[in-house]
Amino acid sequence: MLGISSGPRIKGNTDLLLREVMSGAASAGANTEYISLNKLKIAPCMECNACYKTGVCRVEDDYQTVFTKMLDSDRLIFATPVFFMAVCAQGKLLIDRCQCLWSRKYVLKKSLFSTGSRDRRGMVIAVGGSKSKKMFDSIRLTMKYYFDVLEATYAANLFVNKIDDRGDILKHPIAMKEAFRLGHEFAGEEVPLPQEPVDVDISGNSYNSTEISRRF
Ligand SMILES: Cc1cc2nc3c(=O)[nH]c(=O)nc-3n(C[C@H](O)[C@H](O)[C@H](O)COP(=O)(O)O)c2cc1C
Repeated sequence: MLGISSGPRIKGNTDLLLREVMSGAASAGANTEYISLNKLKIAPCMECNACYKTGVCRVEDDYQTVFTKMLDSDRLIFATPVFFMAVCAQGKLLIDRCQCLWSRKYVLKKSLFSTGSRDRRGMVIAVGGSKSKKMFDSIRLTMKYYFDVLEATYAANLFVNKIDDRGDILKHPIAMKEAFRLGHEFAGEEVPLPQEPVDVDISGNSYNSTEISRRF
């Protein structure tokens, strides 16, 4: 399981949730690996379209390492704070570089994996400070296409609004506990895939969630 922390605040709200999801997954026996994009050098996609011929990105930087890890993992968790109603810049740099995977799939018509389809699943964690939940719509769309090129099923969202200051998530009555539970479930292979990503939607003040067990 690979957890990608894309926000700039280490031990910020999304980062803390991600770590807790991964602890839950580890408690279910998953091998977990955490990376923080903020510490990596990932250049923007230059739209050179070299990948249209090769299916790989020709820019040599830390993207190449993350790329390998993303392909090696069967469970991907992408965590981002909401910045201007969208995925934060560090996360978007990584996502845009996945254009080489888009080329591979839709231009070169090649599968990512030579050994047939794999049970790959993705989860998104996003936290925003405002009351509106509209901000999660854009995150949802972007992540749908990100998981599509990675040949992973978009399985779950953990969305939290009305959380702003660093570490405020720790004061929430159930958010961290819910993150742990979600991670534990997400690691399980026996849980069936949902048609649409399952939402765990937590508000800074209130809490709504669909039935927790057996949702993936
Ligand atoms: C540059 C920037 C843009 C932001 N834009 C939004 C926004 O559009 N909507 C929102 O609800 N919160 C916005 N926020 C607030 C963060 O989403 C919020 O503080 C969140 O808890 C940060 O998570 P973190 O601790 O993981 O960084 C913004 C914060 C920053 C620094």
